Amino acid sequence: MKPVRSAKIVGTGMSVPERVMTNEDFARLVETNDEWIVQRTGMKERRIAENDQATSDLAVEASRAALEDAGLAPEDVDLVICATITADNILPATACWIQNRLGCGDTAAYDLSAACCGHLYALAQARANILSGQAKTVLVVAAETLSKITDYTDRSSCVLFGDGAGAAVVQASDEPGVGILYTTLYADGGGGEMMLLPAGGSRRPPSHQTIEERGHYMQIRGREVFKFAVVKMQELIEECMKACGLTVDQVRLVVPHQVNIRIIDAATSRMGFPPEKVFLNIEKYGNTGGASCAMAYHEARKQGILGPGDVAVLVAFGGGLTWAAAVVKH
Ligand code: ACO
Repeated sequence: MKPVRSAKIVGTGMSVPERVMTNEDFARLVETNDEWIVQRTGMKERRIAENDQATSDLAVEASRAALEDAGLAPEDVDLVICATITADNILPATACWIQNRLGCGDTAAYDLSAACCGHLYALAQARANILSGQAKTVLVVAAETLSKITDYTDRSSCVLFGDGAGAAVVQASDEPGVGILYTTLYADGGGGEMMLLPAGGSRRPPSHQTIEERGHYMQIRGREVFKFAVVKMQELIEECMKACGLTVDQVRLVVPHQVNIRIIDAATSRMGFPPEKVFLNIEKYGNTGGASCAMAYHEARKQGILGPGDVAVLVAFGGGLTWAAAVVKH
């Protein structure tokens, strides 16, 4: 048997709900307007799941597309990792629903909770499992229905979020220096309250009171997150470039978490990246949490922006607080 030298992304896919919610739709719900939202966030539209559409519904579609892209069958997968903060249920793991619906067989399957860093944490897990010989083919699927935990009476947060799923099939390769070259993961629980869903877990189980207090929706301290995000995004890109010995010229694309166009612009321009080297789809989907980097990477591949041998730096931060990055050679 040839030695495993790399963990390569051999297929990607994505899925979003059909329903579109525009800035004008928000202007009918809360006191806001298209101009404010576009200028402050870069967002124009987001996709919103139907009431009966769960996270795994999007995840299964994205996973099927990624497997097809890779030319693999569900039975080829030996580990399913689902990154999500909007699991179908607290029990069982959404990854188990996905594994069963895809028909992967008795493969290992688990969920991973790292908020907007979900996809990058999961890619790091996939790579570690592959390089250690624990798995050969890993299905990573980052999927969110953030609309289900968004407070549509809070204008400062509701305009930010959308739903979607992005998947990547990661496979062992004997070719050195390809695929996921580097991953870096961080967390600081001291900032846990900056992005918080207060109720519904064991700290505050569901009750009439938690519902009356709107405790089942995300509460975001946007201004504080903004400052943290600009600093961390820049630090992560710097770390990746140093660790992999990369210059700006050698990086084809930065694929950032689609959180806010001003955060992305500030961090990447300070690093000397021109706009054409920064992938954006924020105007179409808003912030889709953990799915954001996965969907962006998929679209960059499908649009032909990333060609063979091209290097991408994926970078994200989110609730936890968490922040993470990955360097991927296409
Ligand atoms: N429409 C109109 N006015 C608004 C809106 C709105 N939707 N939301 C807030 N405002 C008002 C505020 O009330 C405030 O008014 P005031 O000056 O009279 O008090 C004014 O706009 C400015 O508010 P700021 O909060 O300072 O606006 P800012 O420029 O910081 O933009 C935003 C707010 C978009 C939330 C920004 O801070 C941001 O993107 N933060 C990070 C986003 C974030 O936390 N994302 C979640 C990450 S976690 C995850 O991804 C799951």
